[in-house]
Amino acid sequence: MATQTVTLDGDTDWSGFRHEARTLLARQIPPEDVVWHTRASAAGDLFASDDPAFDPASVEDASSSRRSGAHVGASASVVPPAFVRLCETVVLHEDPSRFGLLYRLLWRLVHERGLRNDPLDADRVHAQHMAQAVRRDMHKMKAFVRFRSIVEAGNPEPVHVAWFEPVHHIVEAVAPFFVRRFTQMRWVILTPERSLRWEPAGASGTSGTVEGALSFGPGARRQDAPPADAGEALWLTYYQNIFNPARLKLAMMQKEMPRRYWRNLPEAELITPLTIDAMARSGRMIEAPPTVPARRIEVVESLASPASLSLIPEETQLSADPVEALAQLKDATQRCRECPIGAHATQSVFGEGPVRAALMVVGEQPGDQEDLRGRPFVGPAGQLFDRAIADLGWPREALYVTNAVKHFKFELRGKRRIHKTPAQQEVAACLHWLESEKAQVQPQALVALGATAARALLGRPVAVMKERGQWHTDAQGRQVLVTLHPSALLRADPAQHEEAYGAWLRDLALASSLIHAAA
Ligand code: URA
Repeated sequence: MATQTVTLDGDTDWSGFRHEARTLLARQIPPEDVVWHTRASAAGDLFASDDPAFDPASVEDASSSRRSGAHVGASASVVPPAFVRLCETVVLHEDPSRFGLLYRLLWRLVHERGLRNDPLDADRVHAQHMAQAVRRDMHKMKAFVRFRSIVEAGNPEPVHVAWFEPVHHIVEAVAPFFVRRFTQMRWVILTPERSLRWEPAGASGTSGTVEGALSFGPGARRQDAPPADAGEALWLTYYQNIFNPARLKLAMMQKEMPRRYWRNLPEAELITPLTIDAMARSGRMIEAPPTVPARRIEVVESLASPASLSLIPEETQLSADPVEALAQLKDATQRCRECPIGAHATQSVFGEGPVRAALMVVGEQPGDQEDLRGRPFVGPAGQLFDRAIADLGWPREALYVTNAVKHFKFELRGKRRIHKTPAQQEVAACLHWLESEKAQVQPQALVALGATAARALLGRPVAVMKERGQWHTDAQGRQVLVTLHPSALLRADPAQHEEAYGAWLRDLALASSLIHAAA
């Protein structure tokens, strides 16, 4: 029999492989008579518009329809679904012999009934190893992509650009992860083989799609990615501060973060000096006297609480300039691990607004969007809050907006991060940050949005529905207006939304005189 040459459309042409394999099998062509090739990736402009836009909803559809292809080779009864899933992953491996291996396995599955009961068969083991390598590469890409932000001409929204060098053909397969994880950000991931660009729904300067659009482009070069930015300096400081010399396990670290990824990780340049210093630092940690546990519940009377100061480097005094002091406190919250929430969040979300704002607005904790963007009230609850203050004629720039808890607490459901109400101990552990913010801003009055904020500010449980729309007095004699959290309105029955919104505005309006007097 003459050798058959099959040319697939590209390195990840799973449906082409499935179609060709099925045809070859039907024609009884044995694997040794088939040579597999892939066409080189099409060249073209980066992000050329002839690439189909990538709809995140279709990601799921595409993979589920691929899943349903259990009849890859012959019929569903012949090929186990697990084999189809294995093929989907192995196809992404960089080894050019993968298609030959998969077709051989398919052929043998059909012709050697004993194969499915032999997990140690050399072809099966080889394919399993390849799948494992692909999964590992996908995991590394999710963990080690580092974005740097740039501003493009004609678009005020920054775009976050990352450079990554995967080993295997995984870029398209990992794309849905980044779409879900960074849905609201504009981002680009450049790799030598393929590039991705995500424009969130309604992003300015784009066609303003409803769902957001993912486009694929050809490969790029390392130098196409932007140089380090200020955000990276913050990340390096953060990395340096969370590096715990007593926990240093070099072998484990290199296993989790192989050296080949180091050159694209900004923190990698810190690893060697920090490692060298680790012995000395852990010696100092062992010899140091025990630290005083962070204060929990009581309200601080002093201007800046000792617990906040303990996370500000010893050699640094809290600045006398409140703008500078707030920046120091903000920086220190990044390192806060006084409760478990901080370890899981992307970053802390500190308050923002003018340092001598007359009114401080306090929410519960950052949500998913706030956690990703590092700013309070920028997600759905923040949008409703913005609508309310616009209706009241309060400029947001006049308010100091913050939260009782500085990190996002969530529960993972599938790939989604679902908000979880912070426990009372977590709110109490975070209280000194809020106290420090109050001490610096010295607002004339505060607005508590919801029960968590009200309890943190008043130091007692608050029945929001009963006590809303009234001024209360905190331990320092400041006035605190209690009202609903905007999320409560978002959850309200749509039929009652406008009425609930009107009542909420009436509550908030009690603080209007402070804004207008300050203007
Ligand atoms: N909910 C809050 O309480 N705060 C935020 O910043 C966002 C949502």
